[in-house]
Amino acid sequence: MTPDAPLAVKLPTLRVGALRLESPFVQAALSGYSDRPMRVLARRHGAAYTVHEVLIDRFVREVRSASARARHFVVGDEEHPVGAQLMGSEPAEFPAAAERLVEAGYDAIDINFGCPVRSAMGGCRGGYHLGQPDVALDIVRTVRRTVPEHLPVTVKMRRGIDDTEASRTSFFRILDGAFDAGVAAVTVHGRTVEQKYVGPSSWPFLRDVKAHAGDRTILGSGDLFSAEDAIRMLAETGVDGVTLARGAIGNPWIFRSCLELAAGRVPTPPSISEQREVLEAHRDLLLEIHGERGWLTPLRRHAVKYARHHPDGNAVRDAFGRAHAPEAFAAVLEQFYGSEYGVG
Ligand SMILES: Cc1cc2nc3c(=O)[nH]c(=O)nc-3n(C[C@H](O)[C@H](O)[C@H](O)COP(=O)(O)O)c2cc1C
Repeated sequence: MTPDAPLAVKLPTLRVGALRLESPFVQAALSGYSDRPMRVLARRHGAAYTVHEVLIDRFVREVRSASARARHFVVGDEEHPVGAQLMGSEPAEFPAAAERLVEAGYDAIDINFGCPVRSAMGGCRGGYHLGQPDVALDIVRTVRRTVPEHLPVTVKMRRGIDDTEASRTSFFRILDGAFDAGVAAVTVHGRTVEQKYVGPSSWPFLRDVKAHAGDRTILGSGDLFSAEDAIRMLAETGVDGVTLARGAIGNPWIFRSCLELAAGRVPTPPSISEQREVLEAHRDLLLEIHGERGWLTPLRRHAVKYARHHPDGNAVRDAFGRAHAPEAFAAVLEQFYGSEYGVG
């Protein structure tokens, strides 16, 4: 062991119902990002489990054509285990959507009680349910009854609507009620709905939740921007798993880094040729789903984040930002990920 080598850590075993995952490192649900390509790349780089971006129940029920379904919720062979996440307002509207996602081949159904955006709150969905535990638990029971027993149902929650004691009480009512209803795991984001993304995620709250939950499975979320953060959250809070969110955008290598760090090795940053390989793989995966005319817009959203790993990150980010045609995108790859940087 070199003097700089980190100490190896013993990782918890993460179980989500019947799913026994290879490590505690999970790709979080991320609207606008955690589509099939992002999930596949996360899995290839070591994520033990990934979750599809949130889907609104009505949308899932009403998508008619097979091609639209293939674009929005088809599971690839190399993805398993992968969860789908549902959000809605009325308990009675969940079953048909949950059934459709089960048919599509997801390995777990997650229920979103966390989304803080205005459209979700205004539509009485997502984080809104944290203020009405009875309805929230009705949704959980309805989904649990619908989904075949062998598939886990899970819940994603923020720590409350706000910082009041009443919010905390509602949180624990939903948490306990959900486990009583047969939920296999709960992911907790340590921010309130009111906070949106301002200010820190409360890791002490996560520690309290895990202490309360005992051997029931809790995953933690919030402020995981590096492998060090992920290992530290496991150690400081005792959660069974950690879900990497913003820290994994344009950064599937974060999962490899988590595994390396846990094994007592210094994480390897991605070489320029690895960055290029992943950008090209991401493009090819998007191309399969969206065709020649549809891959560039979603890829640019990720590419500006991939640029962070490049020694000329700002210039690369700006160049991707200006690449409005496939040829321009290819030219950025040639200019910044080609022979000038020792790749060819
Ligand atoms: C752009 C964006 C989209 C998100 N979409 C979802 C989602 O679809 N479902 C969900 O449960 N959480 C979603 N989240 C919340 C994240 O999964 C995570 O809980 C949150 O970002 C805190 O983790 P972080 O501080 O490490 O990013 C989203 C967050 C962001 C920034």
